[in-house]
Amino acid sequence: MAKIVGSITTSHVPAIGGAIAKKLQEDPYWKPFFDGFPPIREWLAKVKPDVAVIVYNDHGLNFFLDKQPTFAIGAAPEYRNADEGWGIPVVPSFAGDLDLSWHLINCLIADEFDIVTCQEMSVDHAFTLPMALLWPDQKWPVRTVPVCVNTVQFPLPTAQRCYKLGQSIGRAIQSFDRDSRVLIIGTGGLSHQLEGKRAGFINKQFDLQFMDSLISNPTWATQFSDLDLVEQAGTQGVELLNWLVARACLTGRASLKHSNFHIPISNTAAATMLIENHG
Ligand code: DHB
Ligand code: FE
Repeated sequence: MAKIVGSITTSHVPAIGGAIAKKLQEDPYWKPFFDGFPPIREWLAKVKPDVAVIVYNDHGLNFFLDKQPTFAIGAAPEYRNADEGWGIPVVPSFAGDLDLSWHLINCLIADEFDIVTCQEMSVDHAFTLPMALLWPDQKWPVRTVPVCVNTVQFPLPTAQRCYKLGQSIGRAIQSFDRDSRVLIIGTGGLSHQLEGKRAGFINKQFDLQFMDSLISNPTWATQFSDLDLVEQAGTQGVELLNWLVARACLTGRASLKHSNFHIPISNTAAATMLIENHG
């Protein structure tokens, strides 16, 4: 049977791609962020997941504002990255996992999540950069299943709904009849706002409380509406919904293995967490 090994959540600021291309990992601006990853890579080398379910939001590469599904799942043999205008080098394509994709789709629809299924899907920085942070040689050792959450166009799914989606994905993975070690990745956040009067808004206190809640009280964030989250975390800080989905996928006892928090990377409070799943 499939086993969920844990979740890794991280910010996905596009400038990370530029820093990787320019080899700026030791640069004083970037070092506090990149230093969050070696302990995670050590854990990955030990735990050896063979598939990653990646919960993220598309920023206009695959879906644009004219067609914006609340939840979408990839069911493609391969996912390609493309130039999205940030000047980030394109990364090698990612192998899909058709059996797990369709198992998730079948289970979720049976569980009354009316998701969009994508048999072709391009993946943007929110998918590619976390992968490049985890596997810097970009020789991806995992098959992938993209799970896309609308955090870009209102109305957003509620935090409560995102939590339930994660629980449903967790149950579906547990019932998948194949020996597999499944890693959950959640990307985006934490607090940031890229436009308007509050451009540059960051809320360290809220971010730290949110990170703490993922271990101590994982449903804490479900009390907030989409506009509450905008107020607390900024218009793009709502990407923390992807973290909430990823956390809710964990079926067993969750223990914190590693975390990192640094302000700012570009406009963002950049954070990373590794949570191990026991059982
Ligand atoms: C930034 C952060 C994001 O999450 C994003 O998708 C684009 C830009 C930033 O801080 O620059
Ligand atoms: Fe983003």
